[in-house]
Amino acid sequence: MFPVLERFAYLNAGTFGPLAQETIDAVVTQTRLELERGRSGTPYFESLETLRTSVRSSFAELLGVDNEHVALTSSTTSGCQIVLAGLELGPEDEIVTTDEEHFGLLGPLYASGARVRLVATRDHAPEEALDAILAGVTPRTRLIAVSHVSWLTGNVLPVDAVKEETGLPLLVDGAQSVGAIPVEMGRADFYAVSGQKWLCGPDATGALYVADPERLPVALPTHWSSDDHAPDGSFTPVSGAGRFDSGTIPAPLLAGLQAALAGAPASRFDAGRVTAARCRELLAERFEVVTTPGQATLVTFRPGGDAAEMVARLFEAGVIVRDLPGTGWVRVSCGYWTTDEHLERLLDALA
Ligand SMILES: Cc1ncc(COP(=O)(O)O)c(C=O)c1O
Repeated sequence: MFPVLERFAYLNAGTFGPLAQETIDAVVTQTRLELERGRSGTPYFESLETLRTSVRSSFAELLGVDNEHVALTSSTTSGCQIVLAGLELGPEDEIVTTDEEHFGLLGPLYASGARVRLVATRDHAPEEALDAILAGVTPRTRLIAVSHVSWLTGNVLPVDAVKEETGLPLLVDGAQSVGAIPVEMGRADFYAVSGQKWLCGPDATGALYVADPERLPVALPTHWSSDDHAPDGSFTPVSGAGRFDSGTIPAPLLAGLQAALAGAPASRFDAGRVTAARCRELLAERFEVVTTPGQATLVTFRPGGDAAEMVARLFEAGVIVRDLPGTGWVRVSCGYWTTDEHLERLLDALA
C-alpha cells in the first residue's frame, strides 16, 4: 500500500503521512485526463463539482457530521485563518491558548489583533491542562483555541471539557488528531483538519468543520463562496460551510485525497494506538519519554544528545523521524502502517 515503507521505517506522519500507491495513481489519472482533455467544458466542470462533493462527504463521514458543516481547505493553517479572519476580534478581545501550539494556529491567532493569553500545559501532566486553560479565561475571552493532540508533547488536550466548562467559542487544531485517533466534533465550534498528515492525502489539502456557518462572516471569500454577487462584490454566500472553501484545490489533489480517504482500514485507530503504546514502551526502556502513556499516535522523547543530529543520523540508517526545534526533543509518529520491525529498526538505529 505504501511504497515508501519498502525503503524506510517511515515514522513521520505528524509532518506528512506516507502516500499510498492508489492515492498517487488517482493523482496521475486525473492529471492525465486534464493533459489530454483540457480543463474546460461541461463534463470537466461537472466532474470537478462531483469530486468536491465526494471529498466533502468523505470528510463529513469521518467527522460524523453533515456535509453542510464541512469546508474544503488547503491545510489546518488555512482553516484557522478562515475562522480568525471571520471572528473580527480586536485588541480588547482575548484568546486563550496553550504553550504547546503550532504556528499554524498561533500565527492566525496573533494576526487577529486580539490579545493572545498563553497558558502553560507543555511541561505538565495532561490531567492538569483543563484547570490551566480555565485559569486563563477572563471576561474578555472571545475564543479558546487549542490543538486536540499536541504536536510537541503528543498529549491529548481536553477539548470537550473546555467547551463544557466555559461555553466559550472553541477552535480546535485537529492537525494531529483526525485520522490518528477517533474524533467527534462534539462541542467544538470550529475544527481544522490537515489532509496530508494522518489522512495520508496529497499536500495542500484539508477541511474545516464549522458548527454554525451562518454565524461566521465570510472574511476570505473565494470563487466557491458566492451563489451570486453584485457589481460591487457584495454576495450571497452558498449555503453551509462551503462558503468558507479555500480557492480551487487542484482536481488531481482532490482525486488523490478521495482515494486516500477511501483507503484507510477500519482498524486504523486500534492499530495506531497499539503501535504507539509499543513504541513508547520501547523508548522508555532507554530514554526519558515526554509523552504521557495512553495518548494518541505521537511519541516524543529526549534523545540525550543533539536532537537534529540524531534525526539526521537516523535518516542515514533508513529511519525517518523529526526533531522539535527549541525543545531538544525527537518525535516519532506511529500509524496503522507501522510494524514492530519499523520500531526495531528505530531502536537499533538509536543504539
Ligand atoms: C498541531 C499542528 N497544527 C497545525 C499544523 C500545520 O498544518 P498545516 O500544514 O496543515 O497547516 C501542524 C503541522 O505540523 C501541526 O502539527
